[in-house]
Amino acid sequence: HQLLPRDLRDAIRTIPDYPKPGVMFRDITTLLGDAGAFRRAVDELVHPYAGGKADKVAGIEARGFILGGAVAHQLSAGFVPIRKKGKLPHKTVRVSYLLEYGEDEIEMHADALVKGERVILVDDLIATGGTALAAVKLLRQIGAEVIAACFVIDLPELRGADKLRDAGLEVRTLMSFE
Ligand code: PRP
Ligand code: HPA
Repeated sequence: HQLLPRDLRDAIRTIPDYPKPGVMFRDITTLLGDAGAFRRAVDELVHPYAGGKADKVAGIEARGFILGGAVAHQLSAGFVPIRKKGKLPHKTVRVSYLLEYGEDEIEMHADALVKGERVILVDDLIATGGTALAAVKLLRQIGAEVIAACFVIDLPELRGADKLRDAGLEVRTLMSFE
């Protein structure tokens, strides 16, 4: 995934010291706002799964909705929102996960997928992997087959992609930032 021409990487904006001192925040809004870069990123994410390999795409709130929606449309797959707690109106399944300080919960409608459906998880970025691992737990809990987890950006020092691979997942990322 490091073989991409420089331009897609250059579409990411880096904001030093956001949201707190010492963090180099990788901002995807500049990629989303660039028609060519947005299309390239979505094309790169979907191409291994073209041809009906996935029934559904699950996207993680909030930035995973933008990319996941586009990926689902391109694959002619359904879209499943995985949300922060308290936002979904029908019966949900819920899982808590650790943040750097404290914990949070994500949830999904219990009937969003049926047992055996093949799903691709999409988010903008994987850091510690806590959010994505929680999402995989939710999807597996209702019997979905998670065929891959896809991200535009990997922060490999934080080992999130390694954790997902250890959990038996195919992980696809388009670029890494140290
Ligand atoms: C960011 C990012 C991922 C998650 C990655 O979302 O979009 O979902 O953090 O971090 P992790 O691998 O350490 O779990 P955030 O929680 O900031 O939510 P947002 O998309 O609503 O801004
Ligand atoms: N950018 C966007 N989201 C993030 C980052 C980042 O650098 N680190 C953890 N979540």
